[in-house]
Amino acid sequence: MIIRPATNSDLKSIFQLSRKVHLSPSYTELIPKAYRLEYEAKFAINPAAEAEYVTLMEKRIRDDTWQVVVAEIDARIVGYAQSQRLSPTKVRLKGLFVDYDFQGRGIGGALFAEQIRFTRPGDIVEFEVIANNQTAIGLYRKHGFSDDGYGESDYYGARMLKMKKAIS
Ligand SMILES: CC(C)(COP(=O)(O)OP(=O)(O)OC[C@H]1O[C@@H](n2cnc3c(N)ncnc32)[C@H](O)[C@@H]1OP(=O)(O)O)[C@@H](O)C(=O)NCCC(=O)NCCS
Repeated sequence: MIIRPATNSDLKSIFQLSRKVHLSPSYTELIPKAYRLEYEAKFAINPAAEAEYVTLMEKRIRDDTWQVVVAEIDARIVGYAQSQRLSPTKVRLKGLFVDYDFQGRGIGGALFAEQIRFTRPGDIVEFEVIANNQTAIGLYRKHGFSDDGYGESDYYGARMLKMKKAIS
């Protein structure tokens, strides 16, 4: 497995991977039933959404405050993670996704470690995660992150847990 910065030519694969993971049964079940149709509609095949995503991500790849990394196995993108430095001492993680068929093999842990490698002593690293996403929360706690209350907004009806860590 290779962990490396994302390039523009990865972006369609990242979009498709994101779609696949968001629609995988273990992720969909984190969304309350009443919101699932609305949620699934957001990830329906949509060439305009793909083009919009690619444009947004091209900007992030050019932007020094963003870090977008991918995991690659045999020239296939199997995971990605992104984060943004918001200030000289604050970093926000913005998503960590591993292809459903490749989960549970250490790829998520490796991508997460790479995101943390880009932080500096004194940084506060924070993010939000669906509060009943036990797999992800387990990974984050193992890396020393603590719960920090609940987010102000939900995600398709799912409560969000805030997590943070001071880097020493
Ligand atoms: C969460 C996710 C990124 C983890 O990636 P992964 O490659 O499957 O995880 P890893 O194999 O690196 O495992 C890392 C840790 O996660 C936890 N974990 C992984 N699979 C697990 C499972 N099936 N049940 C419980 N904990 C699990 C463990 O703590 C594991 O560490 P350990 O094996 O040393 O005990 C991946 O499952 C995923 O993409 N899930 C869907 C999207 C998502 O929830 N993203 C995070 C929120 S944005």
